[in-house]
Amino acid sequence: MSGVVVIVPAAGTGSRFGGALPKQFQTLAGKPMIQHVTERFMHDALVSRVIVPVADVLLAKMKSSDRVRFVAGGETRMQSVIRGLAEADDAELIAVHDAARPLFSIELFHAVVDAAREFGAALPVIPVADTIHRMNTDGTVAQTLDRSMLGAAQTPQVFRAQILRDVLARAQREGIEGTDEAGLAARFGYRVRAVTGDPRNLKITIPEDFAIAESYLA
Ligand code: CTP
Ligand code: MG
Repeated sequence: MSGVVVIVPAAGTGSRFGGALPKQFQTLAGKPMIQHVTERFMHDALVSRVIVPVADVLLAKMKSSDRVRFVAGGETRMQSVIRGLAEADDAELIAVHDAARPLFSIELFHAVVDAAREFGAALPVIPVADTIHRMNTDGTVAQTLDRSMLGAAQTPQVFRAQILRDVLARAQREGIEGTDEAGLAARFGYRVRAVTGDPRNLKITIPEDFAIAESYLA
């Protein structure tokens, strides 16, 4: 089957967000955050399948369908993506999108898909508004980074399947734990195309983000 397989890592505990349930299962504008994400992808004709790694304890409660499959996640985001990738056998392109970003638009996804078709790997990036300092372990400032050289990575990130497989296999072999796949791909020498990201596509991290997301979805 051609089309894009989407992996949505959703096996985190949401420690910064807090709450009884991990943030991605909490109700946002009427339905669980994760459902905003899976439905938006499922309604897109480009997407053949959505694979959702979740925590072991929640797996039994999730109901897989033809196009949305829940699988066991791992200890880290990268390990969860690796578990998801093992299920993505027949894809030409594979996307990875955080369950914690329910505000992504299909237009953004398509822009990243187009760039990945051309370049092999692509992601949305937004300029960094804050001045970023490298910090010392004692909490003092070590060095101010040049903001014009910085970009904040978003998801969805999209890859030719064999590139993503190679990148994650190498990271695993070399014991490197990446927080996104685009960064790993660049580290291993692949050209990774940045497309203009969307400031609204925020990653829900702390409780304050929830209200912002609800106002955007309203
Ligand atoms: N994730 C995952 N498996 C893990 C850790 C994280 O699938 N072992 C997922 C999260 O569910 C989330 C995405 O990776 O969709 C981005 O991670 P983040 O926003 O950091 O979520 P958490 O790790 O759950 O939150 P925190 O870091 O605050 O604990
Ligand atoms: Mg985390």
